[in-house]
Amino acid sequence: MIGSTIAHLAVAQGAQVTVLDALLPMYGGNPFNLHKILDRIDFVQGDIRDFEVLKEAVKGADYIFSLAAQVSYVDSNIHPLLDLDINCRGHLNLLNACVQANREARIVFTSSRFVYGTIEYNPVDEKHPFNCLSIYGINKLAGEKYYRFYRDAYGLQTVSLRLANPYGPRQQMKHSKYGIVNWFMRLALEGQPLTVYGEGSQRRDYIFVEDVAEAAVYAALSSETEGQVYNVGSGIGTPFKDMVSLVAACVPGTEIRQVEWPKDRYFVETGDYISDITRITQATGWQPRTSLKDGIAQTLDYYRQHRDRYW
Ligand SMILES: NC(=O)c1ccc[n+]([C@@H]2O[C@H](COP(=O)([O-])OP(=O)(O)OC[C@H]3O[C@@H](n4cnc5c(N)ncnc54)[C@H](O)[C@@H]3O)[C@@H](O)[C@H]2O)c1
Repeated sequence: MIGSTIAHLAVAQGAQVTVLDALLPMYGGNPFNLHKILDRIDFVQGDIRDFEVLKEAVKGADYIFSLAAQVSYVDSNIHPLLDLDINCRGHLNLLNACVQANREARIVFTSSRFVYGTIEYNPVDEKHPFNCLSIYGINKLAGEKYYRFYRDAYGLQTVSLRLANPYGPRQQMKHSKYGIVNWFMRLALEGQPLTVYGEGSQRRDYIFVEDVAEAAVYAALSSETEGQVYNVGSGIGTPFKDMVSLVAACVPGTEIRQVEWPKDRYFVETGDYISDITRITQATGWQPRTSLKDGIAQTLDYYRQHRDRYW
């Protein structure tokens, strides 16, 4: 989702773009995400765990957006070694490839709000303690540390972004293991009810994918960001039930059901999460631009047109 959105943005700016993706089943890689620009980019089907492929791919790049990941926090706790393999070893591979083949590129790594885990205060700034509740969160934190280490030890120009809750066109819609906003849009489009646990009052910071993509580009272009870690979110806390109501309002006839919290969900529930985005806005001038209402409407339009490509 995010990588293909950055690719569209970069192609529109006249950049020469290479996309590397393993297209592993059950993750978000989908050739249709690139169909409009496929004739203007180089596409490499490759795995970040394959050092030689990476070494070739990073040669000559001015900017590297390092997004490949095992993205599901739920799966990370079930398959911790797979998460370690992709989210840690894969990224060490990329950093080593850059040391050998390209020390000049600016590299943007996408981390996650999940490094914070249980939230102690809101809005969450970058100094918030790390109370990780998942292997995914722990390995994303390790990733940030690797990117910082390679900057200090080898002079690579790296920056990490802790993303809140991205949603938008081109996300996978096959399962609900990550990206709940998109998943609810699928359910609504299929005429299924939307289920809210408890009061649905937990607040989340939903951010439209184009805003995330722009944040990544701003972070790459600014010289002030080197070696830093920034939160990227909308800066707005939306109660879960309000997000659900916005989805339902765009798909007439959608039923909303309230049920009790299942016990296994409590374990990974972080509490309210709202990003403090002061540091990235001050360093780069980036600002999120799309309201949740508009973002949901745009996303639904996309899947109404292209649903057969996603599920
Ligand atoms: N979507 C979210 O909720 C969210 C939240 C916070 C952070 N992030 C981070 O943002 C980044 C992009 O996520 P997204 O939302 O675009 O998800 P996505 O699933 O659409 O993109 C991840 C991409 O990585 C590719 N990939 C997975 N393993 C790979 C490997 N070993 N080698 C090469 N490619 C591989 C997948 O094929 C997929 O295209 C990820 O690093 C993710 O952890 C996402």
